[in-house]
Amino acid sequence: MNTFKSVAELRRRVSEWRSQGQRVGFVPTMGNLHAGHFALVELARQHSDKVVASIFVNPTQFGPNEDYARYPRTPDSDIAGLAAKGCDALLLPSVEEMYPFGTIGCVQMHVPGITDILDGAHRPGHFNGVAQVVARLFNMVQPDASVFGRKDYQQLQVIRYMATEMSFPIEIVPAPTLREPDGLAMSSRNQYLQGDERQTATFIYQTLCFMREQRGHGFPIDAIEAEAEQRLTMAGFSVDYAEIRRSDLMRAKSPEEPGLLALIAARLGRTRLIDNLEFDSA
Ligand code: PAJ
Repeated sequence: MNTFKSVAELRRRVSEWRSQGQRVGFVPTMGNLHAGHFALVELARQHSDKVVASIFVNPTQFGPNEDYARYPRTPDSDIAGLAAKGCDALLLPSVEEMYPFGTIGCVQMHVPGITDILDGAHRPGHFNGVAQVVARLFNMVQPDASVFGRKDYQQLQVIRYMATEMSFPIEIVPAPTLREPDGLAMSSRNQYLQGDERQTATFIYQTLCFMREQRGHGFPIDAIEAEAEQRLTMAGFSVDYAEIRRSDLMRAKSPEEPGLLALIAARLGRTRLIDNLEFDSA
């Protein structure tokens, strides 16, 4: 695997591959890679001949009181892991390369509507930062396909919207959520969990399953959401939201609607965790 700090060099490599008729898949990440990320690399491989990954902890998607400074950075083990998975190239841009005019002088991006609800409401500006960096990464790498995890369902929807709306000729490929054996969705932030918090964290997935089960009984959506929030609070979480939505993330009217999913964001101590469960998927 070749590691590129310079975008120009990576672009040369990618255009060589494409001129040979090879399809290029791309997996953007913020590093501290776990099995969930590696599964994305494997899926990218199934959709393409060459796989490019990127590691960039993007300052513009973190709020002023969020964990940008302490976000775990483990480049050596990430590089070894990607190489072992057969990734062909890794882009490791600097903040200066990503934002040559600084994070204040840079071109901003706002994806309307979808960025104001759920995580967008609790993390103002977060998804605008995500859209901004993913658009830049798409321009830098120029892949044919790019893989995003369903674990960050709202992020996936924001990127689909942005890519369609801005005519990026890139297939957006969704990847299933990888979980620990006890159900906890894998996340770089799980390592913030202290002591008993790790065990308590499994309650998020259990609550998502409870919401799916209650929906199966046809209970009203409001009642399911209220009960889920209460259960999480009793377990020690500070809940940002526990909601049932349609697949386009708009509010669902009845539990009978097809294609619903439950989404939870909750804090445990200093750690904010998010997860979701699609009800009607196999
Ligand atoms: P990061 O949190 O590193 O995640 C990179 C990709 O891995 C995202 O597409 C995310 O949805 C996926 N992912 C994380 N945990 C997963 C799991 N347990 N199962 C399946 N996929 C999982 O998401 C970001 O970085 C950033 O916002 C980024 C898109 C790179 C823009 O900065």
